[in-house]
Amino acid sequence: MKVLNFGSLNVDYVYQMRSILQPGETQASYSRNVYCGGKGLNQSIALAKAGVPVYHAGLIGEGGEILLDACKESGVNAEYIKKIDGPCGHTIIQVDQNGQNCILLYGGANRMLTEEYIDEVLSHFEKGDILLLQNEVNLLHRIIEKAFEKGMKIILNPSPFDDALEKCDLTKINLFLVNEIEGSQITGGETKPEVILTKIKELYPDASIVLTLGGDGSVYQDKTGIYHQGIYKVKAVDTTAAGDTFTGYFIASILENMPVQEGLKLAAKASAIAVSRPGATASIPLREEVEKGETYFGKKDCTETEGTI
Ligand code: RIB
Repeated sequence: MKVLNFGSLNVDYVYQMRSILQPGETQASYSRNVYCGGKGLNQSIALAKAGVPVYHAGLIGEGGEILLDACKESGVNAEYIKKIDGPCGHTIIQVDQNGQNCILLYGGANRMLTEEYIDEVLSHFEKGDILLLQNEVNLLHRIIEKAFEKGMKIILNPSPFDDALEKCDLTKINLFLVNEIEGSQITGGETKPEVILTKIKELYPDASIVLTLGGDGSVYQDKTGIYHQGIYKVKAVDTTAAGDTFTGYFIASILENMPVQEGLKLAAKASAIAVSRPGATASIPLREEVEKGETYFGKKDCTETEGTI
């Protein structure tokens, strides 16, 4: 069984700010750093750091070589990543003094996928292989259709949520990973976590779901039940890629057949470490660091309740 992540690769320009800009405001930044990022690349690197052999597919443009280097350094297989002419995907990220961020996304090469390229990449995969997707590339609906036809298992993190998802047949998804906002958008405006979960079960009865709830932790639901995991509290330095780290580590736990509660805990620890560090891919911890987590956080900071939300 192989794992393919078909997703974005971005150069993140990260500005440290006193506060996130308001409309019409001008503010000098304290610093600027350039990091490798993109929801796709972050999730591939999180998978690789968690110990999962992963292939990444996607397009880079000018200046994207550092993204290939990041794949190499972290053990992500980059043989299907293609370089094209034109600008690379990039972002402008403001991070405030509390580690909160806002992200301006420029799709660039990420949005230049063609049907031919998609078919060529997918031709290397088969029934039972895993496909991970986010929503930062074009032709998402086509990737889902083709992968489903092949019998691949599809995991979707529908982030950022936008109209492109309306074209996608979400009944073909095996596992959703959503935050509260995406959970609300996918269910037509529900806001209470328990209602979001019920509605997703009605809409997509065969799918499993992870709903992340910020400071309230995360909930996993499948046909066998519901599991809740609290967060590990850390001083937030930069929340960029925390969700991607959670995604990569939780998927790794599934592939290892780890009990759900253990998988949620592993992912919660990994994302807490990511929040305590600057940058996107740079903030994603190695498996050894996550496993030493008990020492890192102290046991008191962990809250967990099984079977309820
Ligand atoms: O999820 C964080 C990522 O979102 C950043 O690395 C940025 O590139 C945007 O895609």
